[in-house]
Amino acid sequence: MIELRAVSKVYPTRKKGAVTALTDLDLRVADGEFVTLVGPSGCGKSTVLKLVAGLLAPTTGQVLIDGRPVTGPRREMGFVFQTPVLLPWRTVRENVLLPIEMLGQPVGPVERRADDLLHQVGLADFRKAHPWELSGGMQQRVGICRALIHDPAVLLMDEPFAALDAMTREALGIELLRIWEEQRKIVLFVTHSIPEAVLLADRVVVMTSRPGRIAGIAEIDLPRPREIDQEYDDRFKNAARRIRRLVEGGGVDEGQRLDAVASSPSHVIRPPSLVGDGGAAGGRS
Ligand SMILES: Nc1ncnc2c1ncn2[C@@H]1O[C@H](COP(=O)(O)OP(=O)(O)OP(=O)(O)O)[C@@H](O)[C@H]1O
Ligand SMILES: [Mg+2]
Repeated sequence: MIELRAVSKVYPTRKKGAVTALTDLDLRVADGEFVTLVGPSGCGKSTVLKLVAGLLAPTTGQVLIDGRPVTGPRREMGFVFQTPVLLPWRTVRENVLLPIEMLGQPVGPVERRADDLLHQVGLADFRKAHPWELSGGMQQRVGICRALIHDPAVLLMDEPFAALDAMTREALGIELLRIWEEQRKIVLFVTHSIPEAVLLADRVVVMTSRPGRIAGIAEIDLPRPREIDQEYDDRFKNAARRIRRLVEGGGVDEGQRLDAVASSPSHVIRPPSLVGDGGAAGGRS
């Protein structure tokens, strides 16, 4: 389980003084959960991922994984960046194996796994190709394989499909879900696309503009395995509409189930309408 407890992050800057990126952020993500993070640009989404990855330390508060504080980068993390940043002189398979080398482990025993992962994302025939021979979507698939190669417990994805066209993006999202259904890792996925956030997630975490806090959390109870056609489902559209309102800072619908963050302390500022209607059944179909 990932836990952020009363986390704040202040960036000291030379020109603008201190920039408070996050304040009083509480979030718990259970094992096997797929959580998407949406919110205005600059609200601290990438900062949240970097804190969980151990690439940054919180200014105050704690980040815990399975009850232990995160003190630096850890083996159980896989990170997928907005652009795949592949090494151009390496083949696709060699790029996928990079984290193994960086962990100082022999790559031989893992080559088979690299090939299996590439096969799963439809790149079996491109193992020996170089990144410049691949389309953007194919490169992003390589980035996903690379993040999964060392079998991390947590997959952190920072707008991984942002540079792709809408159809490739949907297809990759469905592919990611298929891999996730098999491996059931924790996924924390940042996106600017509300439909993408809904299609993928068990829960969508909506953040306020900077300094980032949690504006609300929407549970997405659409059946799995998810399919692109579910986007035409009324439940999908209602969820997307609710999330859009939250992002825009507006009100929420009747019967909406937006759970307050479990265990969040009382000093977390939340609009009252987001609390206490968790039991509201119906109205969501
Ligand atoms: N290294 C840094 N030094 C100073 N300020 C920073 C640094 N990194 C981020 N910030 C500031 O912290 C705030 C949050 O940044 P962050 O990158 O987490 O936002 P974001 O939600 O990921 O935005 P976007 O959607 O545009 O990617 C921003 O105001 C940003 O300017
Ligand atoms: Mg970002």
